[in-house]
Amino acid sequence: MADKPLIVLNFKLYPEAAGRRALVLAQKIAKIKKNGYEIIVVPSLTTMKEIADKTTLTVFAQHVDPVPLGAYTGQIAMDELKELGINGSLINHSERKVSLSIIRDTLELARQKKFTLIVCASSLSEVKKIALMKPPYLAYEPSELIGGDLSVCEAQPEVIVKAVEIVKALSPDTKVLCGAGVNKKEDVSQALLLGAEGVLIGHAAPKAKDPKKFLEELLL
Ligand code: G3P
Repeated sequence: MADKPLIVLNFKLYPEAAGRRALVLAQKIAKIKKNGYEIIVVPSLTTMKEIADKTTLTVFAQHVDPVPLGAYTGQIAMDELKELGINGSLINHSERKVSLSIIRDTLELARQKKFTLIVCASSLSEVKKIALMKPPYLAYEPSELIGGDLSVCEAQPEVIVKAVEIVKALSPDTKVLCGAGVNKKEDVSQALLLGAEGVLIGHAAPKAKDPKKFLEELLL
């Protein structure tokens, strides 16, 4: 992916971004001017194929498992995601935590499959442990701020700076993202000023009165 600042839009299972509404939201997002940003949408498991098929957006999964195709009931395989045009995934999101050994195994498989992982961390100690595994992307998201309107950039600027320092010292090629409560343009510019290379956004986009207008203003 290019070195443009990254905007990762996690649809989660918000009612406004699930079922038939997921494609409607994705089509609105596909129409906005990117203004030098890279956008990745992260829809639910059951809606991501349709969005990958019917839009030009980069689509990531919300979770992936370190398994090949085979007898793995209820798991999500990179091989199948890649067949569907999904070439990356979040992993270890606060709402879908996995163990460090699973993160390690998933990163190893992703390297073999040329599959991109955004590994989430909810504390500086977790940032450090995950940075040692040299992920392509590491997203710092304090779980207590997720879903609120106080953004991590306002509440914890010094922690973002520290997270960037830790990651760059241990894994210079890892891109650091941050998220939680990001809801306005100033949060994005502040995140970049603090050394992050992008943000993750959850509720603010799907729950905006006009998601397309919200995102256009965010990317101005
Ligand atoms: O993955 C990003 C998400 O957890 C952030 O959620 O609603 O605080 O923007 P939100």
